[in-house]
Amino acid sequence: MARIALMAAAVVLAFLTVAPVMEVAAKKWTVGDNKFWNPNVNYTIWAQDKHFYLDDWLYFVYERNQYNVIEVNETNYVSCNAENPIANWSRGAGRDLVHLNVTKRYYLISGSGGGCFGGMKLSVLVEKAPLAPAEAPANNSATRAFPVYGFFIPVAVLAAIGTILNFF
Ligand SMILES: *[C@@H]1O[C@H](CO)[C@@H](O)[C@H](O)[C@H]1NC(C)=O
Ligand SMILES: *[C@@H]1O[C@H](CO)[C@@H](O)[C@H](O)[C@H]1NC(C)=O
Ligand SMILES: *[C@@H]1O[C@H](CO)[C@@H](O)[C@H](O)[C@H]1NC(C)=O
Ligand SMILES: *[C@@H]1O[C@H](CO)[C@@H](O)[C@H](O)[C@H]1NC(C)=O
Repeated sequence: MARIALMAAAVVLAFLTVAPVMEVAAKKWTVGDNKFWNPNVNYTIWAQDKHFYLDDWLYFVYERNQYNVIEVNETNYVSCNAENPIANWSRGAGRDLVHLNVTKRYYLISGSGGGCFGGMKLSVLVEKAPLAPAEAPANNSATRAFPVYGFFIPVAVLAAIGTILNFF
């Protein structure tokens, strides 16, 4: 009985050891959450408490006959000018994925139907994902957990395995 409990504990600890790696997996953000890509949503507010990391995705859901998703530069973002796009992310179905594969600031607007003037503009800064503990900034609370996991959990797993082996 005790042996089974210890084995279960070892399995749980082994899972916890890999969990921090899973945490940094690419994330798919639905732009605007349940308001999606529409006028009269403040996307500056939507984005302000979020961190966008390299290889995340932005998912735009919208009325395909009225709006689109156009990447522009900062000047054209401010003035809602879609005439000289950096990229056209629209594929025609009103369901577009933007792969954030470059660390830079992206400027995305809806260039049709007056969407941009109605507030359909989103700027996101894409940062390098916090992966290795050595690269994690010291003042980032989200990444500070990694060195702790990286040290204590393997030690705990080894201790649990050692205890199990003592039973045989
Ligand atoms: C969106 O919210 C930000 C931050 O509160 C504000 O500065 C900005 O003027 C708002 N934009 C619109 C279009 O209301
Ligand atoms: C953006 O592109 C326009 C041309 O469409 C150019 O006049 C402007 O200087 C560019 N702005 C930036 C910040 O690169
Ligand atoms: C963007 O690309 C889509 C699909 O190819 C096309 O239907 C649409 O007209 C394009 N929009 C612009 C503004 O270029
Ligand atoms: C990022 O994605 C764009 C569009 O799919 C592609 O053209 C570009 O080559 C990619 N850049 C990198 C650095 O992978």
